[in-house]
Amino acid sequence: MVYFRYQQNTRTTWRTSHHTEMKIKCLFPNRRQRKQAFSLFFFLLFGMCALLLLSLKVSIKDRVPVEPYRNIDSGDNGLHPRYQIDCNAIYEMDPAEVGKSLAIRKQIMVEEQDESLVSLTSNCSRYLNSRGYGAVLVSKEEEAFPLAYSLVVHKSASMVEKILRAIYAPNNIYCIHYDLKSSEQFAKAMEGLARCLPNVFIASKLESVKYASISRLNADLNCLSDLMASEVKWRYVINLCGQDFPLRSNIELVADLKKLRGGNMMETSLPSIYKKERFSFRHELQNASFEYQQLPVKTLKAKEPPPHGIQMFIGSAYFVLSREFVTYVATSTLARDFLAWSHDTYSPDEHFWATLTRVPGVPGEVSRTQPDVTDLMSKTRLVKWEYLEGMLYPACTGIHIRSVCIYGAAELRWLLKFGSWFANKVDPKVDPVLIQCLEEKLKEKQTAMVMAVNQALLARKGLNSSTVN
Ligand SMILES: *[C@@H]1O[C@H](CO)[C@@H](O)[C@H](O)[C@H]1NC(C)=O
Ligand SMILES: *[C@@H]1O[C@H](CO)[C@@H](O)[C@H](O)[C@H]1NC(C)=O
Ligand SMILES: *[C@@H]1O[C@H](CO)[C@@H](O)[C@H](O)[C@H]1NC(C)=O
Repeated sequence: MVYFRYQQNTRTTWRTSHHTEMKIKCLFPNRRQRKQAFSLFFFLLFGMCALLLLSLKVSIKDRVPVEPYRNIDSGDNGLHPRYQIDCNAIYEMDPAEVGKSLAIRKQIMVEEQDESLVSLTSNCSRYLNSRGYGAVLVSKEEEAFPLAYSLVVHKSASMVEKILRAIYAPNNIYCIHYDLKSSEQFAKAMEGLARCLPNVFIASKLESVKYASISRLNADLNCLSDLMASEVKWRYVINLCGQDFPLRSNIELVADLKKLRGGNMMETSLPSIYKKERFSFRHELQNASFEYQQLPVKTLKAKEPPPHGIQMFIGSAYFVLSREFVTYVATSTLARDFLAWSHDTYSPDEHFWATLTRVPGVPGEVSRTQPDVTDLMSKTRLVKWEYLEGMLYPACTGIHIRSVCIYGAAELRWLLKFGSWFANKVDPKVDPVLIQCLEEKLKEKQTAMVMAVNQALLARKGLNSSTVN
């Protein structure tokens, strides 16, 4: 379709230029007029050149602050270059600063090599210092409400490190599942993170994750099972992929999660007729021609209905689950049978959680008669679909890949104000400024809020002691 439109465009352009040529010929019928026209033409050409030179000079002058390397700090450790950009101005949508971020985007970006993180984490004290792990402040409330994370990742070690740093609190617990197909250097980098941070570990069982197959769900389940066995008595577990980024600091997230009162947060809707095909026919993994090595492909074999009279719901792979709910999933025969039944469905991760949260009597149950919880209602993930831009939300300021927006810096304010907890997708190769500004804003908020809470505590203590005296 895109190709077709492109063809049409070139044809139109060609036709136009052909037309213009015709017109010029008709305009100057005799020699004298043609001579005059030529001198006029050269005069204009000279003028245009002068103007062009002038504008070039101006634009070169303007471009000084965005010259490659000029505006990049050596960073906190050389792993993550930091751009000289005012994130508050980006947040306020200041046109000059947003313009600067667009210029940064145009620079050729050298992708961070996984080796850099391997070498950085080879000396843990140096790594922890350089990334300010010791400076993370947490409140008493956060300490009493630990969170668990399941990170299912497969590439771009430096991006995974950024996500981990952004969601890090010393009292939380983090499971990293990397793909069996991941490069050796990526795996080493992940092992490095796990070695340096006491509350980060690698899943005890790793999967070769195939797109839309049960392996994606199993990767999360492997982490969940390890997290359940951990000494940290986490209250909620959240799963993330390598293109997600938090929109809330830990202290804000804890406050929001407490408001759920034991409920889960995820998308869960009645399936359309089209989506029902995903689990009414058996699927088989088949070799795919490009991009995905293998894909589950629909066969003509009908599937029997799900066990235990389960009613199917559909949602997304992303969840925020209470510990009680995960305990239920880990111990109930219904959940085990449902998992076994799901193995030959298409993208079981997108119906497994959405369906189980609707099972009557489960901890944090969403009743089957309750209306759909759509993706925008669920706070788990803020995803921008190209076809809904201009209707449900402003246009993407990054780029689109398969109709999904990879966010740009001009969306910083919208992202932080929307109310969701995590954004999908971000990519430093699309816009490194957005990620830098999200990091900065969240760090600022965490520190400010914890200090405010502590000060309030101190003030109250002072008041108590003065009443005692
Ligand atoms: C690790 O880095 C620190 C500097 O942060 C240095 O003092 C120390 O000697 C290094 N350790 C090793 C084993 O290289
Ligand atoms: C899929 O491809 C692999 C090698 O890439 C091959 O060994 C296997 O036989 C193929 N399977 C099918 C069903 O074609
Ligand atoms: C201060 O007093 C309030 C009640 O007035 C009490 O709830 C609180 O625990 C006290 N704080 C300390 C630190 O003693």
